[in-house]
Amino acid sequence: MSRLNPRQQEAVNYVGGPLLVLAGAGSGKTSVITRKIAHLIQQCGIRAQYIVAMTFTNKAAREMKERVGTLLRAGEGRGLTVCTFHDLGLNIIRKEHERLGYKPGFSIFDESDIKSLLSDIMQKEYSGDDGVDEIKNMIGAWKNDLILPEQALAEARNPRGEPPPSSTRITSAPCARSTRWISTT
Ligand SMILES: Nc1ncnc2c1ncn2[C@@H]1O[C@H](COP(=O)(O)OP(=O)(O)O)[C@@H](O)[C@H]1O
Ligand SMILES: [Mg+2]
Repeated sequence: MSRLNPRQQEAVNYVGGPLLVLAGAGSGKTSVITRKIAHLIQQCGIRAQYIVAMTFTNKAAREMKERVGTLLRAGEGRGLTVCTFHDLGLNIIRKEHERLGYKPGFSIFDESDIKSLLSDIMQKEYSGDDGVDEIKNMIGAWKNDLILPEQALAEARNPRGEPPPSSTRITSAPCARSTRWISTT
């Protein structure tokens, strides 16, 4: 196994906070990350179950797991998470599905599932599916703004953001970029 150069070693040893390692392909970034995981577990006494290494692709996750495995002794890596962003999200939902109100066998829709569902709904409701992409994007924007379905419905019914009638009140969606008019009825 190659020895790390001083800059890599510095990155491995630094545990005081966030750290960005910016370097070209094949320059030793993954080596830094894998050694740092081993360092955190073996020298800093941090349990593997509290460490998450996130990669862009499944292939990179497999490679990283394998490389960390060679640095750890038996049992040291128990509970370590090395996965993609999507895997991490899926695992959290799987673990917390009850709390979220999902059934254990919930399914994840990909782009084409989403489009065919929207298209089905539109065929039924409007006998045509023009604008499926726009609707998908709108739903995506609501999700990015942390707008809940009920709030989205209220907004869709009142797209110009006109003040609601007196029977309603103003609520700000959590972390949303702007205040929205939310109907309470
Ligand atoms: N300091 C170093 N000296 C020599 N070889 C190194 C050093 N750091 C990493 N390597 C080797 O270089 C190759 C690429 O390293 P890797 O960590 O996969 O880079 P990156 O993730 O930046 O693409 C690997 O074979 C690794 O063992
Ligand atoms: Mg790499």
